[in-house]
Amino acid sequence: KKVVLAYSGGLDTSVIVPWLKENYGCEVVCFTADVGQGIKELEGLEQKAKASGASQLVVKDLKEEFVKDYIFPCLRAGAIYERKYLLGTSMARPVIAKAMVDVAAEVGADAVAHGCTGKGNDQVRFELTFFSLNPDLKVVAPWREWEIQGREDAIEYAKKHNVPVPVTKKSIYSRDRNLWHLSHEGDILEDPANEPKKDMYMMSVDPEDAPNEPEYIEIGIESGIPVSLNGKTLSPATLLSELNTIGGKHGIGRIDMVENRLVGMKSRGVYETPGGTVLFTACQELESLTLDRVAIRVKDMLALEYAEMVYAGRWFDPLRESMDAFMENITKTTTGSVRLKLYKGSATVTARQSPFSLYRQDISSFEGSEMYNQADAAGFIRLYGLPMRVRAMLDKEI
Ligand code: ARG
Ligand code: SIN
Repeated sequence: KKVVLAYSGGLDTSVIVPWLKENYGCEVVCFTADVGQGIKELEGLEQKAKASGASQLVVKDLKEEFVKDYIFPCLRAGAIYERKYLLGTSMARPVIAKAMVDVAAEVGADAVAHGCTGKGNDQVRFELTFFSLNPDLKVVAPWREWEIQGREDAIEYAKKHNVPVPVTKKSIYSRDRNLWHLSHEGDILEDPANEPKKDMYMMSVDPEDAPNEPEYIEIGIESGIPVSLNGKTLSPATLLSELNTIGGKHGIGRIDMVENRLVGMKSRGVYETPGGTVLFTACQELESLTLDRVAIRVKDMLALEYAEMVYAGRWFDPLRESMDAFMENITKTTTGSVRLKLYKGSATVTARQSPFSLYRQDISSFEGSEMYNQADAAGFIRLYGLPMRVRAMLDKEI
């Protein structure tokens, strides 16, 4: 019996290793995905995993796959949860869980395990992905089974099992970081009336401390997918990571919200999505040139459902995939560029351009035009407003 554990090297996942061996009598293969959480977290990990009792550590660099196949489709869809959340953690779970299913096949494991609590969304996202990709895998979620409650319990358990307690001092917040975002939950944030502390943020400066000079950037987009920054074509992960630096410097993309978790409770979270916010703004803007009225409305309605699917862990669901086919088709001509001005927390669009633009200056201009005859408007309004006139006539008769 062999289990593949989603492993971070922190206290919780370090304790899970001996716990799995003790309670399930299985060999533990640790798996760590590099989704851009920062190199520091990956250093010395193999030694750590083995010291905890793992037979091996498998590390996979998923950065490009994560951005190209998960983040960019969500961006193209315009997916946003409960008006604010750009889904940073939600998108990362399926790519990690999929890699775990692959690793399980590679090492011949019959089970997978994760360190998510029984109170959150992440457990659902991991497990729905396992179910969709390999229904035969057994799933172990220690947090839903064991007695360990807090940090003290975990340290005691580690000591009892001769597992070195990770020296990295645990932050007071529950954080999740990847190339798209950084989330903060817990501690003083648990009271929605508390303002986040200034020193909590890690990816962005306080807008008040951002440069006094605005910075202009230009994002190139092809068929709804960003491809370049200031005229330079970059790989998906490189583009995003450069924008994180630039956006973070200008204090862009901080979100503070109370959200509805899948498991029914509300929770308060603070998110930093500097590069993502810039890209989201740019992609939405270009559609103002390339999509017509009904197309924008229908796309936006579907985006709501798309976001819901992603939040709820239904990435590998034919419905999400079908909505993606719609998104891909509707954004085929969303190609061009958007210029933005970054200044003290805001990303303001200043210009947009597309070879497929539906905007026609010769039609829209206040100067006279051949294509548009103002006299036509009178007949249009009479017919368009016919139901209003009929109803008003009726009201008058009664
Ligand atoms: N509330 C956000 C979500 O559900 C962030 C979750 C953060 N996860 C974590 N393990 N710290 O997507
Ligand atoms: C957890 O509870 O494991 C993290 C938070 C979440 O999944 O929503």
